Amino acid sequence: MKKILSFSVVAAVVAALALTSCAPQATGPKKIVIGASLPTQREAVWVKGRQAMIAAAAAAGVELKVLSADADAAQQANQVESLLSQGIQALILAPADATTAASMADKAAAAKVPVVSYDRLILDTKNIALYVSFDNEKVGELQGEWLTKAVPKGNYIIMSGDPGDNNAKLFKAGAMKIIQPLVDKGDIKIVADQAVANWLPSNALTIVEQALTANKNKVNAILAPNDGTAGGAIQALNEQKLAGKVAVTGQDAEIAGLKRIMAGTQGMTVFKDNRKEADASVQAAIALAQGQPVASITYDGVSANQTVNNGTFDVPSLLLTPEAITKANIQDVVKSGYVKATDLQ
Ligand code: BGC
Repeated sequence: MKKILSFSVVAAVVAALALTSCAPQATGPKKIVIGASLPTQREAVWVKGRQAMIAAAAAAGVELKVLSADADAAQQANQVESLLSQGIQALILAPADATTAASMADKAAAAKVPVVSYDRLILDTKNIALYVSFDNEKVGELQGEWLTKAVPKGNYIIMSGDPGDNNAKLFKAGAMKIIQPLVDKGDIKIVADQAVANWLPSNALTIVEQALTANKNKVNAILAPNDGTAGGAIQALNEQKLAGKVAVTGQDAEIAGLKRIMAGTQGMTVFKDNRKEADASVQAAIALAQGQPVASITYDGVSANQTVNNGTFDVPSLLLTPEAITKANIQDVVKSGYVKATDLQ
């Protein structure tokens, strides 16, 4: 994985540019500068998102400064301050922690910098111009629909993502919309229900190991919120020779997840083409930096005509559509160019 520029390198480059700025300059419109702060580069979705943002900015002829926070909210706060001090005209922010990020959005607003909340919603602030994401409740519904079809009756382990990520709540709400009625009917029994701190596969592994032990391996289905946590769950199943016998969901169309679908140890994943999400965010950030109204922003035929409540207000939202992937339609991911056919061999 390519390491992104550390703050000190960025600062050094900025200082060097400042020194050369004494030289005579061509006159012309000033280049738009966009800042972006991503929560992590651990999952491939964030790596691909970053690459797509860089490509989108280059294509649009704007400057993009993109940093990643190693899942650390304090580090992200410092990075956002640094970006703001560098005179960015719009901020794309995917929070490491949804509520801590409110103060970052507020600082951006104080500096008159519009904020695009990217993939994950920033909670408890009015200072978000636009939320660009997927229909995250739908992601959960796709997981719940596949899982209840695969296992209409039986013992379920329910895992949700990191509690500091608002998406985790939306994914779970969507999945439970489908699963809960079958629990109420008595067909499904939930034998464990736990959040996976920090989305860490190792935490998912422990949760599933413990649930298997507590239930003498009598588990039929596992709701895993993404491919990383599905990987941890399947490792725990493997230890008990149960991999392939217990239905497991996922999300992200990661190569490892797609390979497990081919091997039959994971049943499904959810494909969110985050190249589009990243591209849409950069386009939106440019429009906002130019002072265009949110209502005028559209991407790929989708407009910002939806809202998602963040605890303070209904945030204007541009939501892309996720797709459920099983062995039957795995080629959709290849055809889109998101992964190569050779990646799956
Ligand atoms: C993203 C998922 C990702 C997870 C862990 C969520 O906010 O929507 O795609 O797997 O974070 O990084």
